[in-house]
Amino acid sequence: MSSTLFRTKKVEQSILDTEEPEHALKKSLSALDLTVFGVGVIIGTGIFVLTGKVAKQNAGPAVSLAFIAAGIACGLAALCYAEFASTVPVAGSAYTFAYASLGELPAWIIGWDLVLEFALGTAVVAVGWSGYVRSLMDNVGWHLPAELGGREHATGFGFDILAFLLVLVLTAILVVGVKLSARVTTVVVAIKVTVVMIVIIAGAFFINGDNYKPFVPEAQQVEAGSGLKSPLLQVMFGWAPTNFGVLGIFTAASVVFFAFIGFDVVATAAEETKNPQRDMPRGILGSLLICTTLYVLVSIVVTGMQHYSQLSIDAPLADAFKATGHPWFAGTIGFGAAVGLTTVCMILLLGQTRVFFAMSRDGLLPRFFSQVHPKFRTPHRPTILLGVIIAIVAGFTSLSALAELVNIGTLFAFVVVAIGVVILRRTRPDLHRAFRTPMVPWVPILSVAASLWLMLNLPTETWLRFGIWMVIGVAVYFLYGQTHSRLGRHEETTVGEVLKRPGPGEE
Ligand code: ALA
Repeated sequence: MSSTLFRTKKVEQSILDTEEPEHALKKSLSALDLTVFGVGVIIGTGIFVLTGKVAKQNAGPAVSLAFIAAGIACGLAALCYAEFASTVPVAGSAYTFAYASLGELPAWIIGWDLVLEFALGTAVVAVGWSGYVRSLMDNVGWHLPAELGGREHATGFGFDILAFLLVLVLTAILVVGVKLSARVTTVVVAIKVTVVMIVIIAGAFFINGDNYKPFVPEAQQVEAGSGLKSPLLQVMFGWAPTNFGVLGIFTAASVVFFAFIGFDVVATAAEETKNPQRDMPRGILGSLLICTTLYVLVSIVVTGMQHYSQLSIDAPLADAFKATGHPWFAGTIGFGAAVGLTTVCMILLLGQTRVFFAMSRDGLLPRFFSQVHPKFRTPHRPTILLGVIIAIVAGFTSLSALAELVNIGTLFAFVVVAIGVVILRRTRPDLHRAFRTPMVPWVPILSVAASLWLMLNLPTETWLRFGIWMVIGVAVYFLYGQTHSRLGRHEETTVGEVLKRPGPGEE
């Protein structure tokens, strides 16, 4: 029994599977495309929306330190992701990596976890996008009825029609093909980075040094009764829950971590990359470095423009300019944010369909989902199915709790990938690795520790929700995946039968 749960899929077999014509994706992306993809998905709701919330509630001006802490955790994870992505260049990201190193059940768990990360991430960003678009519409005097303006503002029925429509339109674009998406993405990323640069450069002229005092506000006790909302770490050790102070920086880091999600999505496009061995590490590390630098600068500037206690929660970057008497900048930034969040949504949706595709190709989900479209060569079936579900979730969802759930899922995936790097080095030392994680096992160990630390700083209720999702996932595996696994069937047919397509390295 345990041998089937931990059966691993040979790396050569994973690569070979991608070459079956009816299950093959088009290889069209370069290192530059990947970096643009990375920056396109990384800069989003995290910096445009969450910065204000965590500065105001958890960290004060020290939110810039929270970005550094989260950036370091992601950098360590990126070094592990890059080795895996350059060794196993197949759609599915951490899922595929786990299948090659840890075994089928851990791989299933990761795949299930990534579905959560990407699907809810897409919904969260769509809702953030809709907020910016509504604020722009308000500027020109167009107002949506309250019932169609999302959950946050509704008293009774509330449906976010804009978020819903955005996800449906992006789904249609993805069905038509990656090439088109990549082209659109490039233009949108340019707009988004320009807007971020405007915040940094123009905002620097409006900094008031007094706003940095105190840089790390003193710890403040939170009212009793907020147990489930407190970080698990504080609950575990029976500490009185606090905001601000040094611990507040880490609470903030576990939330703004959302701002970095996306570099791992770059790895999900490995199979569509022309030269994954060389381009994957460049794409992943390059986009992460660019974004970390921009985040730290933006958060320093914004908390310098406005006292942290005054920052807006909905649109902090634009509103800091309004507060300093520069509404023109505020409008431009609002527009750039709305445009920029579109690509974030699209790429999360792309990552999501690719994981689903890979799981289906392996038979852990119905194979129906892994046949690519005859003309567009895209996995149209999972794209449409998941696109519609996510659109509905986005329509009925409010933002912050979901972002934390996305974070815990992603951090969990990072832990598995880091462990996978060490295991694959032992079990398959012979494999060609275009990019090697430095100082193994120390970097993976540090990566696991950093990810776990951030996870422990997330609220207890987030852990509970994550646990429930995972229990459902394990049940689905035992009811469907385990018996339909292509790897499992493949192993069965080797007994006394001729294999239809033996992979290289098969015994
Ligand atoms: N990193 C992405 C964002 O901040 C998911 O929106």
